[in-house]
Amino acid sequence: MVVIGVGYLGITHAACMAELGHEVLGVDVDEAKIEQLREGTVPLYEPGLSRMLRRHLAEGRLRFTTSYADAAEFGDVHFLCVGTPQRDGSDSADLSFVEAAVHALAAELTGPALVVGKCTVPVGTAARLARTVRRSAPGADLAWNPEFLREGRAVDDTLKPDRLVFGAESRAALDLLHAVYSLPIAAGTPVISTNFATAELVKAAANAFLATKVSFINAMAEICEATGADVVELARALGYDGRIGHRYLRPGLGFGGGCLPKDIRAFRARAQELGAHRTLEFLREVDAINLRRRHRLVRLAAEQCGGLGGRRVAVLGASFKPESDDVRDSPALYVAAAVQGEGAQVTVYDPKAIANARRHSPGLRYAGSARAAAAGADLVLHLTEWKEFQEIDPAELSPVVGMRAIVDGRNALDPLRWRAAGWTYRALGRP
Ligand code: UGA
Repeated sequence: MVVIGVGYLGITHAACMAELGHEVLGVDVDEAKIEQLREGTVPLYEPGLSRMLRRHLAEGRLRFTTSYADAAEFGDVHFLCVGTPQRDGSDSADLSFVEAAVHALAAELTGPALVVGKCTVPVGTAARLARTVRRSAPGADLAWNPEFLREGRAVDDTLKPDRLVFGAESRAALDLLHAVYSLPIAAGTPVISTNFATAELVKAAANAFLATKVSFINAMAEICEATGADVVELARALGYDGRIGHRYLRPGLGFGGGCLPKDIRAFRARAQELGAHRTLEFLREVDAINLRRRHRLVRLAAEQCGGLGGRRVAVLGASFKPESDDVRDSPALYVAAAVQGEGAQVTVYDPKAIANARRHSPGLRYAGSARAAAAGADLVLHLTEWKEFQEIDPAELSPVVGMRAIVDGRNALDPLRWRAAGWTYRALGRP
């Protein structure tokens, strides 16, 4: 089978398909990336992925190429894993990479083949791409099989997904997808077979729901701040209601990354195009609540220091979430830049994301450890909840800093422990 596009999704999918026993060829137009992968180097941090990729390279189950002609010849199933970023100057999705990949592949296909879309696309895209595929490659068909993997858990999410969604218009396409995923299906993974539009919508709706849940608890944090209530205790109590649940109810700096923010914007933009002008307007508010948390954190930092001008601020965390080196739309880097913008001297430390953060925000300073970042700091900001930061002993950090003051942007540190060591501890949504 073939995996087109070897970004986050594609590399993970290719390695996991090999893990499920398939012969896999990964394709990308980026020569340098393909060369790196051939040598067994994964250009991103994802737990377990490097080891799995190297094993399958060594065993010959996984190969990489830049040639669509080779790809067309190689397999009967072609997974589309290219990116669908936010379009410049607009909320909608940029489909140019998907279109280019489908055209390049379809031009080379000669026999029966199934093109399987995995990327997140506006509803209606699959039907259009199916027409392109069928027109330019007689004997070829298209199906839609959205991906729900989370960064940091990508390998497990692919091998043991919560569910598989197959959007298809023929029995043959469905049978082929069942064969591809026979192992997870045999292990009990539920399968939903449906039409194209539903399959595309499951993905958009899932990300919209998750973003809404995070923003809901962060809206409650705003109410807590206005009333003296404690959002962490509120979330704990709410989550015990089985209908609500604790997951995605962690209040703090909110969501970032390459998916949730752009996906809720593209979903709303698509609803507008479909004439459902009011239907998804609430997602605008979900986005606004999320961005307000970042500004609130900057204000909290300024309050704590009595103004940020000339202050030294240590930032713990740069990635958009722990167990990832991804800094796309990272709340942590956003806050770091804003704090520096108000005149502070900011030093950032992250266990895995420093190299990406440097490229993204070259104007910030970086340190090689939490301790080094905190040296002489007037304030420490905890912005990405890596386990390493929860293990910091505040008493050991005390002699290093200028002032013992911390703002916990992720509500992941133990306030009692920090206060017991003589620190001023403040957090979002807590008295
Ligand atoms: C998200 C979805 O969870 C995946 O199911 C989906 O496949 C993926 O997008 C995608 O569309 O490709 P991901 O971007 O890896 O996955 O990140 P999440 O784990 O969903 O976290 C997103 C953000 O929400 C992070 O910044 C995280 O810190 C924040 N978050 C999450 C909270 O602030 N509170 C929570 O309770 C949960």
